[in-house]
Amino acid sequence: MRRPILAANWKMHKTGAEATAFAKAFLPLVADAGEVDIVLAPPFTGLVPLAQTLGGSRVALAAQNVNPEEKGAFTGEIAPSMLVEIGCTYGIVGHSERRALYGETDDFVARKAAALLAHGILPIVCVGETLEEREAERAFDVIGAQLRGSLAAVPDERASEVVIAYEPVWAIGTGRTATPEIAQEVHAFVRKQLAQRFGAAAEAMRIQYGGSVKPDNVDTLMAQPDIDGALVGGASLDPEQFARIAKFESSGE
Ligand code: 13P
Repeated sequence: MRRPILAANWKMHKTGAEATAFAKAFLPLVADAGEVDIVLAPPFTGLVPLAQTLGGSRVALAAQNVNPEEKGAFTGEIAPSMLVEIGCTYGIVGHSERRALYGETDDFVARKAAALLAHGILPIVCVGETLEEREAERAFDVIGAQLRGSLAAVPDERASEVVIAYEPVWAIGTGRTATPEIAQEVHAFVRKQLAQRFGAAAEAMRIQYGGSVKPDNVDTLMAQPDIDGALVGGASLDPEQFARIAKFESSGE
């Protein structure tokens, strides 16, 4: 069985003090959550304060980005070893905002994912089509190419450590969630692609859905057979909302 993974991507929200206040409110709310992994991805400046507040708790820490190099003249960048030092368990790579706003390519995303794995951090690799691509019936081509490119450097024996996040760009921050049927259709496609690349290990790989996940739609999304978690933006900024998402219906069974 795949262990569900509910992750908060705070994007460029919350100072260190705000992150700490969130964690203090959030931890008691998820103390009785089921057999799920719960992850918070604050901005870089929130990682250290959160590591202190979350230390020893059931909630894991993720970075929103990483540079694949070990060290060097890369102004403004953060190396994998720096994330290890703070205690990050996960790292998000290839988010559509980074692909669209900062020109990140599949090749660069692939190097990031491999660098994280090399340092023992589990990559959350994001893929997803734009509205224009969906309307042109190119969604599966686009997602297939992103998966092939972004996972190109993942060693076969490490496949089960990789988390995929399917985030249709048209559903991010728009309040327009993919229906559970559309999401399941894509997730099944993603798993098939993973099976072609990694064989039987694909069954153990977790695939999150992301895009306007809220307390009132998480249950039906999580009920789909190939949806193994959620990557949540807006609704994850509020401790009560994100706690409800982490405690989706059937998570306690
Ligand atoms: P929203 O939940 O705000 O739509 O954001 C989704 C997302 O991009 C998570 O990475």
